[in-house]
Amino acid sequence: MSILIKNGHIVTGSDNYTGDIFIEGETISAIGTDLPVSATETIDATGLLVFPGAIDPHVHLEMPFMGTFSSDDYESGTRAALHGGTTTVIDFILQKQGNSLYDAYNEWSGRANNNAVGDYGFHMAVTDFNENTAREIRDLVEKEGITSFKIFMAYKGALMIDDKQMVGLMNEVKQQGGMVTVHATNGDMIDFLIAKHRAEGKMAPLYHYLSQPEVTEAEASERFAGIAGYTGCPGYIVHMTCEGALNAVRANNAKNQKVFAETCIQYLLLDASLYEKDFDGAKWVMSPPLREKKDQAALWAGINQGLVQVVATDHCPFKWEQKLMGKDDFSKIPNGHPAIEHRVELLYSEGVRKGKITLNKFVEVLSTNPAKIFGMHPRKGCIAPGSDADIVLFDPNYQHTLSVKTHHMNTDYSAYEGWELTGKVKTVLLRGKVAIDDNVCLLEKGYGRYIKRNKVSQMI
Ligand code: URP
Ligand code: ZN
Ligand code: ZN
Repeated sequence: MSILIKNGHIVTGSDNYTGDIFIEGETISAIGTDLPVSATETIDATGLLVFPGAIDPHVHLEMPFMGTFSSDDYESGTRAALHGGTTTVIDFILQKQGNSLYDAYNEWSGRANNNAVGDYGFHMAVTDFNENTAREIRDLVEKEGITSFKIFMAYKGALMIDDKQMVGLMNEVKQQGGMVTVHATNGDMIDFLIAKHRAEGKMAPLYHYLSQPEVTEAEASERFAGIAGYTGCPGYIVHMTCEGALNAVRANNAKNQKVFAETCIQYLLLDASLYEKDFDGAKWVMSPPLREKKDQAALWAGINQGLVQVVATDHCPFKWEQKLMGKDDFSKIPNGHPAIEHRVELLYSEGVRKGKITLNKFVEVLSTNPAKIFGMHPRKGCIAPGSDADIVLFDPNYQHTLSVKTHHMNTDYSAYEGWELTGKVKTVLLRGKVAIDDNVCLLEKGYGRYIKRNKVSQMI
């Protein structure tokens, strides 16, 4: 089986040119103009952007959380991702406190194997670091290709670890060639504010936002970056939302240390005024919460300054019935929102079209950087001979409206209902197979492959 993509406008993290891509089997075998090849199938890409499949390194599929499960499983979640041009996701395995990392690994593999439509990898969230956990890390890196280990500085009693555990984990992960990623917010301070608001009878979604002020994230980001710098362990802050946290990274850089930072599409585009819509605000209850317009401006600047390397989603969808678990108490609203399908189109329409980022930056933060940071490059994240033929053909002028009526995520509302976008995914290839063609998914569940990742690089 071979495919020739002809005459597309090819965009990578660094280049822009018109050309042809020849695919044999699962990989790209040649790139050029007027390639003298004969292919089983030819796709005319005239007028389309052609870029590497996007990678979403922050998703939660079928995750047990806050008394329920996130509502997309591996099948629906990776299929929706493909519809939106995301060919690979990295999901978070959660260790149960008191249990082993391998118990959790086996549980998550059982859910994903034979069900995913798109490719996927795992991060391991370490919620209980001890001597036994330490011993498992080496095997996870060497045998399973899990090279990033997540910690939560919040969600006490379920997921949070303390600073002593954080230092221990960083020492171990550094030795094994991995990276520590972090949900960086001050859990104790947040718990204090939640208790205070509840005691005052303040139960609306707005108080979720008011229980996690900017300082909770700035303080934890600074602490994490400092400890990562001290141990020399590569560090990565997930879902950064605000100017204060960005400035913590900036200050850390000034000490000639480095942590990577990821923001998510919602923090660039949505703001905290959505929490003023009474219980409807529950649609956007997530942690950290949406912030202010000045934080959006800071994050766009951070992307262009190279301080923020990745735009992910933190896709953690719930149906409305699940959100209603917190109808009378904001602290019981399952945290998270659906976004896996819309990140690429939103970032193009709101970012590239509105002049906030270049096309190359768009590809870099959606695909190339996550592939490099998380040990999948050059197999993923680029268009080059030998790379997996994960390719998006994108119509830059197509106008459409986002809606629950047309999305493919397993939620009964859209967090972006009515948003009018310019630019749409037209065709998606995953490892040389047409996965999406004009809104139709042509792959079956089970096609998605588990991607073992290499040791991480601090150099991008
Ligand atoms: O609200 C969120 N972000 N839910 C998912 C869990 C997490 O903290 O990433
Ligand atoms: Zn988080
Ligand atoms: Zn998350």
